Amino acid sequence: MGAERIGDRYGRELRDLRISLTDRCNLRCVYCMPREVFGTDHVFLPKDRLLTFDQIERIARVAVAGGVRKLRLTGGEPLLRPGVVSLVERLAALRQPDGAPIDIALTTNATGLSRLAAPLKDAGLSRVTVSLDSLDPETFARISDTKLPLSRVLDGIDAARAVGFPVKINTVVRRGFNDEELEAIAERFRGTGVAVRFIEYMDVGATNGWRLDDMVPSAEVVERIGRRHPLKPVGQRGSATASRWEYVDGSGEIGVISSVTEPFCGSCTRARVSADGRLFTCLFASDGIDLRPAVDDGDEAVADALFGTWRTRDDRYSELRGAQTMERPRPRVEMSFIGG
Ligand code: GTP
Ligand code: 5AD
Ligand code: SF4
Ligand code: SF4
Repeated sequence: MGAERIGDRYGRELRDLRISLTDRCNLRCVYCMPREVFGTDHVFLPKDRLLTFDQIERIARVAVAGGVRKLRLTGGEPLLRPGVVSLVERLAALRQPDGAPIDIALTTNATGLSRLAAPLKDAGLSRVTVSLDSLDPETFARISDTKLPLSRVLDGIDAARAVGFPVKINTVVRRGFNDEELEAIAERFRGTGVAVRFIEYMDVGATNGWRLDDMVPSAEVVERIGRRHPLKPVGQRGSATASRWEYVDGSGEIGVISSVTEPFCGSCTRARVSADGRLFTCLFASDGIDLRPAVDDGDEAVADALFGTWRTRDDRYSELRGAQTMERPRPRVEMSFIGG
């Protein structure tokens, strides 16, 4: 089987597979699924276009046999997918070639976690990352464009912590929207063991009307938080997205994800599978290759499709961004479609 570890054109190995379980979400964050575009007449994927759990398990099994160590379940909102707990159970049974378990992470808006944290823990999920951009109920409602209360998210976070999940918070920082809250968000989770990661707002998809001025550079985030509670960098980033900083007084850590000011394509080991089974080798790709014919043909065909595509990969969008925004932009897949 062609599943031996294979580097792409820049020698980057496939280590991290992000699997979208649905293109739907119960929130309408203005920068991700603006209601003007994702309104009542938006056509989401019909149920029969979604990969089945058998198909997802096959892709994951082949990926893990070929060197993938981390699976991340994303959406839209992955907890909206019926049966998600049983899928986690199946994925948690997979083992790396040396017998080691894999890391199974979930990116969620946490509105379903009060109900699902305990069953997900029992099913073998490793950890949870919650998207949360504001601790102010009104700002939360404005950014997420929802009537669901902020307390629902905070209760979800508490439920995840209570059952023992390591929890991270992803906060997309947008100037004029939530950047004034940086210090307060950091303070809320300082000393709780929850790591907040502040994300530079990116020009993903085609619907969020991104402007460079909306982005708050990570250097500013670290400087502002460090002014209150001094921070020091933690080790090397490796292939991770976040640069980690810990409070000098030992009260925890934050992360910053700087894909605009300090792109990290050089160490990018991530691929994404959309809910309808297309493989995207970059967050900013225009299109993905359909894995379903290979999935119908069996493990070997999946390995050939997955690693064959990976071998030819030369993506490094964030590093090229400066040059490309000058040109006519290419079409890009929506972030909500491949889960960030
Ligand atoms: P950890 O394993 O917990 O470090 O997760 P992660 O940072 O790999 O994934 P997560 O879904 O938490 O991503 C955090 C932020 O980084 C999101 O805004 C993502 O869209 C962004 N991000 C993740 N992967 C990539 C990537 O490959 N390229 C770029 N440009 N941004 C990414
Ligand atoms: N820039 C940066 N991060 C984004 N996310 C969604 N849209 C953007 C964007 N334009 C984040 C979500 C989620 C993660 C998967 O991606 O908040 O935490
Ligand atoms: Fe949903 Fe997350 Fe997009 Fe918000 S950022 S609309 S919670 S998928
Ligand atoms: Fe990887 Fe593409 Fe993100 Fe660069 S822009 S880190 S290649 S997903």
